[in-house]
Formats: sequence, structure tokens, C-alpha cells
Amino acid sequence: MWYITCHFCKETLRNSVKIICRTTSVAANANKSNELVLLGQKYGTDDWTNVTPNIIAKLGRNLHVQQYHPLSHLRQRIMNYFYGQFRNKSGTPSFSIYDNISPIVTVEQNFDSLLVPKDHPSRKKTDCYFINQDTLLRAHTTAHQAELIAMGLNNFLVIGDVYRRDEIDSTHYPIFHQIDAVRLRTSQEIFRDVKDSENLKLFEHRGIESVEKQACHSLEAVKIMEQEMKNTLTNLTKTLFGKDVQCRWVDQYFPFTHPSWELEILYNDNWLEILGCGIMRQEILHRAGAVDQIGWAFGLGLERLAMRLYNIPDIRLFWSNDAGFLNQFKVDNPNAHIQYKPVSIYPPCTNDISFWLPGEESYSSHDFYDIVREIGGDIIEQILLKDKFIHPKTKKTSHCYSIVYRHMERTLTQGEVNKIHEQVEKAAVAKLNVIIR
Ligand code: PHE
Repeated sequence: MWYITCHFCKETLRNSVKIICRTTSVAANANKSNELVLLGQKYGTDDWTNVTPNIIAKLGRNLHVQQYHPLSHLRQRIMNYFYGQFRNKSGTPSFSIYDNISPIVTVEQNFDSLLVPKDHPSRKKTDCYFINQDTLLRAHTTAHQAELIAMGLNNFLVIGDVYRRDEIDSTHYPIFHQIDAVRLRTSQEIFRDVKDSENLKLFEHRGIESVEKQACHSLEAVKIMEQEMKNTLTNLTKTLFGKDVQCRWVDQYFPFTHPSWELEILYNDNWLEILGCGIMRQEILHRAGAVDQIGWAFGLGLERLAMRLYNIPDIRLFWSNDAGFLNQFKVDNPNAHIQYKPVSIYPPCTNDISFWLPGEESYSSHDFYDIVREIGGDIIEQILLKDKFIHPKTKKTSHCYSIVYRHMERTLTQGEVNKIHEQVEKAAVAKLNVIIR
């Protein structure tokens, strides 16, 4: 996502396929060494386990449902939009909302049920937090769509925390929040308002897949769905950012939708991707038993939108327990116009670390980022890979990283930063077999 960090489009880039790509705290205990207790459940560990104590400690915080939290205000606004926009004949809202599904999912839910190929890079240990080889912390709320469809739901939103191993900077945090939506329609529903629609069908028997549609779909059904989805999403964006917001659609690739798009908005002269969406792969619907319906789906990242809406400069602030932050959002009306004002800005301290890698294949920067975050916690503002160098004789690779340390609530002293930095060096040597230069 986007922060959705091109989790999915990595593949399109690597295979150079021609596609324009440009969610109750302290929930865990480690008891015996080969077992973890997460959210009250025991899980066996194995050599896939890479979930860290820092991440585990945040399981169950559920920021998206904390009263007055900015992510909760935004969730409410999006829910209200869907309630207002889509109603049944009897006037009741069509969309049902799921905001407390456990983030612990199976590989089947997160990937297989969504047709993510077995060799897709988004499945890698370097990209996800695994509990064991079959279980992980969901990397997207899309992980629940197949099971909810199989339960018979046609219109729903899933809201929750998602987990991805990623870079560290002011806009990336290993946990963020997403809203996913699914809307399924029958032939009758979509062609109801079309004149002379007797001959119009959802499916086509000997069709072929094109950029516009899946083989099994009729072009007319796809076009109607595409239009409803795009209108819904541009109007949602206007509801959040005001009617003058500039939007554009960009073709995208996801294994679970086709065709697929991203919606971008112009923000401070930059195009910013805010969501991914598309016409759902019919195989997903078919396997879930929805054989006479066609569907659209989208997924959007809440932090990304909330940072722009409320002028929040750093993604770590969402996790702050500081009253200076939280009190600014203490309003009952989720539509209130709030612009966050930093109480004060504390200075950063930057220390560099350079080391020789044990070997390119056995090393991933994401392992290093996790070690730094494990030791420094939320005072780690950013880690920048400043320099890569291959020794001409030994052919050994060296990486130099700048680690920016900054506390959100007080000034750090260089002395205390140096101590943390030393621990980082020691841990990198012990856990990653690197050699400090
Ligand atoms: N799950 C996708 C992501 O996190 C977003 C998405 C959801 C795209 C549903 C299409 C349909 O990047």
C-alpha cells in the first residue's frame, strides 16, 4: 500500500510485466522457548518465527477503536460515508462492519485464498511477521474477504491493524491500519436501471482475458461495476478532503483483482497513492460459493490519510500515550476539522553504523531494522541506508546506515543515544554476523 509499499507490485517490477506500476495491550508472553502466547492463544514457533517482542507488545492496542483517537475518527467518517451511500430497500445500511477480527491469520487466509502465487515476494520472511510457517500477523485486511463471502456476506468493511516489515522513516511503521471493502452484485441488481437489459449477462462463456476484463466476465457488467466503484471512491475522497481535491486513477496489479487501479490525490504538489482496488477475481468468489455475483473491492491505509487530514508529521505519533497529542483529538464529532500542532519539537541525534555483511544472500536490511527497533523502540525516527560499497579485492559488501534517534516527548542526550547505539552495534554483530568497520 501503498504502504501498501508496493507489497504487491514488487512482483510486477521484478518480472518486468508490462503494467503501469509505477489493526488490550501486552497480549503476549513467551513461556517455553518453542511456544508463544499471543492474544490468549498458544502458538508453536519454528524457524519461520520472526515476530519481535516490540511488535508483540502492541498486539491488541486496537488504535482504530480507541475513543477520540485520530484513526478512530477517520474510521467513523468512512463508515458514515458507507452507511449514507448504500442502503437497502428498507432503509437499513447495506454494509456490515468488522473491526475486531484477530490479526493472527493463516498463510491460507493472507495469501492462498487470494490467489497470491506461491513464489510471490510478498510471502517472504523478509516482508512479513511470521509466528510460524503457517501463521502470521496479517499483512492486509484483505486476508478476511474470502471467509466473509463464504459466510454469505455481500457488502462489508473490514477494519484493523496490519503488519509489515519495512523501512523506517516518518511515514513507515511496521504496524498500520487498513480498511478493506467488498461489494457483490447479482445480474439483476446491476442491470436493473439499464433499458432493454434482458440480454445483458454477468458472464461470458468463451471470453478471453484482456486489460479491460477477466475471461469469464462480460464487458458491460465489468464497466458498470468499475463505474460504481470509482464513483464511490472519488466521492469518499471528496467527502474527506473537500470537493476540490484532485484525483487520478492509475492502472495497478494485484493478484486478487483484475482489472486493478490505484487512486492518487494531489497533495502539496505530489501525487500520493491512497488506495488499491479492482474487480475481484471470479475464482475467489467461486471458491467462496458466490457463483452468480460479481464484485469490487478496495483497501486503503488509514495512517496515510489521517496524516494529511490532521497534519500529523510523524507516523509514530499515532502510538503516543502523551496527553499533548491525544487531547488535541478529544472531540465527539468525528467530522471536526482538527489540525495537529506540535507541542514542541525536540532535537534529533544521528549516529552512523557501518559494517561488512556476512554475505549478500544471508543478509536482509529488514532484519537490521527490526534489531534497531527492538533496542531503540519508538525513539528510532529513521534508518537510512547511506552507502553501499563492494571491496574491490575481497568482494565483501559493506553497508553504512544513519540512525536518527528522536524522542517524541523530551530531548535525548548524546550520551544516552551513544549507549543505545552501542547496544545496536553489539546486537548486529551477535545476530547478523556482521563485522563493524
Ligand atoms: N490488499 C491490498 C494492499 O494492501 C489493497 C487492495 C485490497 C487492493 C482489495 C485491491 C482490492 O495493497
